[in-house]
Amino acid sequence: MHKVEPKTYFIDTFGCQMNVSDSEVVESILKKEGCVKASRIEKADMVFVNTCSIRDHAEKKVHSQLGRYAKLKIANKNLVIGVLGCMAQSLKEDLLENKPYVDIILGPDSYRKLPLYLKRSSKKYLNSVDTKLSRFEVYDDIFPSRKEGINAWVSIMRGCDKFCSFCIVPFTRGRERSRSVESIVSEISQAISDGFTEITLLGQNVNSYNYNGKNFQNLLEEIARIKGLWRIRYTSPHPQDITDKLLYTMSKHDNICNYIHLPLQSGSDRILKRMNRSYTRDHYINLVKKIKSFLPNVGISTDIIVGFPGETQQDFIQTLDLMSEVKFDSAFMFKYSPRRGTKATEYIDQLDEKEKQARLEKVIKLQKKHTLEKNENLIGTEVIVMVEKESKKSPNRWAGRTDSNKWVIFDKGDLQIKDLVKIKVTDTKGISLQGNVMSEMVRAS
Ligand code: 5AD
Ligand code: SF4
Repeated sequence: MHKVEPKTYFIDTFGCQMNVSDSEVVESILKKEGCVKASRIEKADMVFVNTCSIRDHAEKKVHSQLGRYAKLKIANKNLVIGVLGCMAQSLKEDLLENKPYVDIILGPDSYRKLPLYLKRSSKKYLNSVDTKLSRFEVYDDIFPSRKEGINAWVSIMRGCDKFCSFCIVPFTRGRERSRSVESIVSEISQAISDGFTEITLLGQNVNSYNYNGKNFQNLLEEIARIKGLWRIRYTSPHPQDITDKLLYTMSKHDNICNYIHLPLQSGSDRILKRMNRSYTRDHYINLVKKIKSFLPNVGISTDIIVGFPGETQQDFIQTLDLMSEVKFDSAFMFKYSPRRGTKATEYIDQLDEKEKQARLEKVIKLQKKHTLEKNENLIGTEVIVMVEKESKKSPNRWAGRTDSNKWVIFDKGDLQIKDLVKIKVTDTKGISLQGNVMSEMVRAS
């Protein structure tokens, strides 16, 4: 009898960690169907691109990837091409009309349909499309198929109800909904038995988590008690919903990392209001003070948007001032990118590209200075680092992060990946620290 070779797949993932986590869910679904991962994209029977809509630049990258897929299909006419995730919905028309080589289009809540559509596409019922958003889908029962590693991404909630006026996410990912505590805890336990020592909880607004009356802090409490879990991180919280109880929980548990990513967006009250961010500049500054009082030596990073419609020089200076007051350890900084269907595209006072670029360069320069300053303050101190990977610049040195999320480079010695080590910081170059190993704390089993 003729042996049937399993179908092979390849997934390209663009965008945020949530997409990385979703691609792992898709992989898990494909593996259940008996498919295996192709060693190279050229060898795959099916290729998928998990897409991102957050800024125009992200969408452009997806378009050029689809151009590459079209060429692969010329070489292999049976190739199945799928577009997944955030762009699926908004691009549906465009894909159907202008990219006839795309076979499957699935939005973020429709991945369970994949096996059905794959069967269809092999029968040449092409263009299988489902971009409906769900109020309930959390893929609770589908554990992601992860590569080996240190950090496992664990999605705890999906969607967003905040409707910041610049953001497309509430439209592409739909309403907020949370996964059950039991399923999250059992997925984490599985990840630990698979060798992971760190988890990062994911959600568009993790502190909106709510499952049967259990809030985010209750969830963290339960997770912190799981044996063998050395580090817990989460991203991203909304500054409006960080409670004292949450900060207390973080301070009480050693395995919850001393790090918060706290998206600011703007330092001007006028712009925050236009952004529908629901907090003020004062609230944000006081919150940072409070976080530092609960969590000394905490690492704080942020997201900043420059050139939002109507942002005057005065508004922009307020953002720079706030940055100087808070001194973030690091920041992701973006030029405002108009997104179809969002409120902010209706504002008539859009800034020109040149001005946005000039403002972006200014915030980047200021942040570089702050990052260096914060890192210099650590010289001479001792930090705990988990060994994560080889340093890019030297094969004799390891790279690992402090729990406050700073990269440290140090000699390998006889240390192994996943060891926890105490390191004395000796120097800083750019965004990373250099150090000497003082002692090893725990050896990975
Ligand atoms: N333009 C620029 N940046 C954006 N972000 C979200 N939407 C936009 C947009 N339209 C940024 C925000 C958010 C991060 C994930 O992406 O800073 O916190
Ligand atoms: Fe977008 Fe605002 Fe929701 Fe974050 S909180 S996903 S920025 S709408």
